[in-house]
Amino acid sequence: MVNVDKFIEKAIQQIKDEINGPAIIALSGGVDSSVCAVLAQKALGELLTPIYIDTGLMRKGETQRIKEIFGYMNLLTINSKERFLNALKGLTDPEEKRMAVGEAFIRVFEEEAKELNARYLIQGTIYPDRIESEGGIKSHHNVGGLPSVVDFDSIVEPISELYKDEVREVAQALGLPKEIFSRMPFPGPGLSVRIIGEVTQDKVDVVREANAIVEEELLEPFKPWQTFAAIIGKGTGVKGDQRIHGWIIAVRAVESRDGMTAGPMELPWNVLNKIESRITSEIPDVARVVYDITPKPPATIEFE
Ligand code: XMP
Repeated sequence: MVNVDKFIEKAIQQIKDEINGPAIIALSGGVDSSVCAVLAQKALGELLTPIYIDTGLMRKGETQRIKEIFGYMNLLTINSKERFLNALKGLTDPEEKRMAVGEAFIRVFEEEAKELNARYLIQGTIYPDRIESEGGIKSHHNVGGLPSVVDFDSIVEPISELYKDEVREVAQALGLPKEIFSRMPFPGPGLSVRIIGEVTQDKVDVVREANAIVEEELLEPFKPWQTFAAIIGKGTGVKGDQRIHGWIIAVRAVESRDGMTAGPMELPWNVLNKIESRITSEIPDVARVVYDITPKPPATIEFE
């Protein structure tokens, strides 16, 4: 990008030109939607309602932080935990799970858009999203599918020409905190793509704790492009003097430019060791921890 300040000025002007009524944006707290929300707020002020949907599939402490950071806006927080869990009940197929989450998003949005009489939707779609969606690699991206279902006058995508690193530059220039501008990507379907098989409250709780530990140990010292934990199944273990059939947690840490390809990080053994010992000792139902060394391709970054 040539000039960040120029981009910001132009984006705000574009939003002002295209929108003249109540508008909404799905604010997830990721860098893309955060940048769009700030740009749109600058352009529209009170006309904008950023909507944060607490799907129950968010990371530890995330909802609280979003409220703190974006509380100065007209932020609407919706607790939809039950709804998402119900939508996912009994589903084991990855695509069906993704669709269920996508649909639940759409429904919550539809309801809120109607309530607010919002005629405009702002979306944080970035350039690689468009490429991957067009190529059919992703079936659900951000709140993919919204435009065809909800009847908006117009959908505005202020950062659709930018790559991720450019979005981060804009975020920094807008004065967003470091935890937002240097934030790694987090998938729209949330922790559900990090749970192989049916999503249950139990599994969500376990994977959320494991994620938090992995982030604590890896984010600052190693600055991976993305790192997280996933539940990949069950296996036997011995805890205390008992044999258990506990969760298997996979740890992922990758380097990448834009998520289209990625390589596993070569982490020091003592670091992997510490992660294993923290996860197995702090989370009672985990029987073992593995480290995923597969690049993308052939694997994807997420497990589902
Ligand atoms: P994959 O797993 O496809 O992930 O290699 C590439 C990047 O995209 C993120 N990702 C998603 N983001 N909705 C999103 O908004 C999704 O359905 C989705 N699936 C994957 C993933 O976290 C990684 O950064």
